[in-house]
This record gives sequence, C-alpha cells and structure tokens, in this order.
Amino acid sequence: MSTEIEREAPSMSSASMTSREACVARDFIDPLRSFRDRFVIPEGTIYLDGNSLGPMPRIAPGLLNRTIEQEWGHDLIRSWNSAGWFEMPVRLGDRIGALIGAAPGQTVVCDTTSINLYKAIHAAIGLRPDRDVVIAEDASFPTDLYIVEGAMKSAGRPMKRRLIGADGPSVEALLDRNVAAVVLSHVNYRTGELLDMPAITRLIHAAGALVVWDLCHSIGVAEIALDRDAVDFAVGCTYKYLNGGPGSPAFISVAKAHQATAQHPLSGWWGHAAPFAFDRDFRPDPGIKRFLCGTQPIISLRGVDAALDAMEGAEVAALRQKSLALTGLFMARVGALLPDLKIVTPRQASLRGSQVGIEFDRGYAVVQAMIERGVIGDFRAPNLMRFGFAPLYVRFSDVWDAAEILAESIHAEVWRDPRFSRQLEVT
Ligand SMILES: Cc1ncc(COP(=O)(O)O)c(C=O)c1O
Repeated sequence: MSTEIEREAPSMSSASMTSREACVARDFIDPLRSFRDRFVIPEGTIYLDGNSLGPMPRIAPGLLNRTIEQEWGHDLIRSWNSAGWFEMPVRLGDRIGALIGAAPGQTVVCDTTSINLYKAIHAAIGLRPDRDVVIAEDASFPTDLYIVEGAMKSAGRPMKRRLIGADGPSVEALLDRNVAAVVLSHVNYRTGELLDMPAITRLIHAAGALVVWDLCHSIGVAEIALDRDAVDFAVGCTYKYLNGGPGSPAFISVAKAHQATAQHPLSGWWGHAAPFAFDRDFRPDPGIKRFLCGTQPIISLRGVDAALDAMEGAEVAALRQKSLALTGLFMARVGALLPDLKIVTPRQASLRGSQVGIEFDRGYAVVQAMIERGVIGDFRAPNLMRFGFAPLYVRFSDVWDAAEILAESIHAEVWRDPRFSRQLEVT
C-alpha cells in the first residue's frame, strides 16, 4: 500500500525545498496562497498555534458587528426569526458536516467539546445496555478522560474503564463483548499522531461496540468521512483549525441510524420536539436537535459563520496535502539543524495530523524565546514543544524561518535567561 508521502506530488515534497528561496518560490505557486489574506496575521508573526486558537478571519469583525449593532441592537428579539438565530446550530452543523463527510441533519454546533463528549458518551453507553466497559486512551486530552469518568458515573449501572496504553497496547487488545463504547482522538493533541479512522471504526463495530471520535485536532486539516466510515458519534471544536474565535461553540455529529434512540441526560428545551409548545414533559426531537440543550451564544456562533466563510473554496484534500508538506518540511529542517532533538510526531504521512511535537527539557523557555522573536508555538508539560501548521495561512517560508529560529534559540541556550522561564498560567 502506498503511503501519502509516496503519493505527494514532487512540487509538494519537502525534498524539493532545500533553501529559503525554494520555499518562497513554493509559496508563490501554492494553490491555497490567496487564503492567507483572509486572516489577520500580525506583521512579523509566524503563527504556529492554530492547533490551539486559529487567527481572526478578516470578515469576522464585520459579521460580528452586524450581529451586535443591527440584529441585537436594532432588531432585538425579532432576530431569533429574522436573522435566523434559532436555526444557527443546525445550519452551521450542516456546514461543518460538509467538512467531515456527514450528510445534512446529523451535526449541530453547540456547547463545548467537553459537554458534547458527555452527551455522546452517555448516549453510546445507553445504546449498549447489556455491556459495561468504556475504552479510552491513556494519552488522550484530559477532558476526554474526565468526561468518560463522569458519563460512567451517570450511566445508571456500574461501568468499568479500560485504557489504551495503561491496560493494553491497542484498541484491538482491549475489545471484547463487554465493551459498550470506545472514545478516541483522531489526532493526538501531543504527538500529532493520526489514527486510521476507517480501520479502527470497523474493528470496534465488529466487536459490537460504538465509537465516539474526538475531531478537535483534525477538522479542517484532515480528510474525514463519517458517513462512509459509519461513525456513530463525533465531536470537535471550532476554534482551532476552523478559526471560529476564542471559545467558539463546538459540534456534535450523530449518525442518522442512532438519532431516534440515542438519549443523553441534558434534556433541555432546545432538544425538545416542540420547544415553543412549552410542554410539561420532555419529548426529544426525533432528529439531531435532541442533542441541543439550551440557548446558544449567538455572537460566538456568528464567529463560526465567519470562519466557515473564510475557508469557503478550500478543498479539504488540498488542505491535507499542504498540511503534510508543511509538517514534512519542518521535520526535515529540524532533523537537519538539530539532529539530536526528539521529534515525537510520526514521519509517515498517513500517520500524522497537522502539528509537530518535539520533546526538549528546556522546551518551555525555548517556546517563550521563540514567541519573543515572533514565532508563536506552545508548550505542554512536562517537556513538549508543539508547533501547528495550518495550511490556510502558514507559508513554506514561515516553516523555514521557524526551524532556523528554533535552532538559534537552542544553540543560544535561551533558558539561561530567567525572562523565558517565568511560568504563565496558560502555556
Ligand atoms: C482533543 C481535545 N478534546 C477536547 C478538548 C476540550 O475542548 P473544550 O474546552 O472546548 O471543551 C480539547 C481542547 O483543547 C482538545 O484538544
């Protein structure tokens, strides 16, 4: 089977970019080149943290202002109808669905990823009432583990957890007829490893269990086909590679096949079949709207509209191809400049998302020093430097320069300067 590296066009491969001039030339012919202008990237900044918070789309202030001044300020409560506020979670859900291969009517934008994980895991456990195990990943983003704990406690029956990593080497090793649900991150938030969604989903289904995929680090940069792969539940955020703004609402996608029977405990009025009937008893919407709970943050939802408008016309396949070329180039340059550094991200293209993680004991200070020079990445304790490569606005020349500045920072031993070791609350 050919890997994605082998399938990359020669002009895309990092091997063809052996000088800064070659990178600049590559930027010039980049088919996604024009998208960079749709975002505000401050002068002198190389932004490699779009895997945490995407930059602001240029159209966002205008759209948000209109929502504030006209829709809220002038039209007042009429905007629930006239500006389509009430339908936003479903309309935006369908727009997100198009990016993740989910047909309309299966995705809503609402709440946070953590809350949506809770709804999805609870629903999955409920759909397998004769089973008592949830599988999760030892190395997953902590909220996924915390929410698994919470959902197990509220399942209404005793549940057990098995962790990939701590209790067995793989999903396959832990699957059996007791497993109700498996919770997995498509791309690991630390290593950037990308899991094989189709193959793993098949394995889970063969064991009779359901899957919940966390797409936080893959939506917008990886090809995802929820319907094709018969994925049961998926959740993810809109503020990373989708650039919806700080705290912009998350999404949840539920396969049509489960919608009539899947239940979750946050039975709020927005999930009711007829919210404006004001019935006394809860009767869930027959479709995806049952996964809504209460009134949504309309101004933040408008940020998601702006973000999706800003990426309109960018094909996911093209984003994926450029993302791989960017991460490939960064790993090649870091490998050449700093051969002793431990890159934890897989070299094989089919196994990596859009970020590169590098372990380095003085990583915190190095990241701070790089930020001072305009290269913004981030740090995850105890020793991981993370650099995200968003194909919508990161250039090949940025990658070249970032690797140089990383090498210079390490060679200069920047950690000797106490300025760079001062701990900030958010790293
Ligand atoms: C993989 C993953 N899952 C879940 C979350 C939590 O998202 P939220 O804070 O929106 O609930 C994050 C946040 O960064 C994440 O990276």
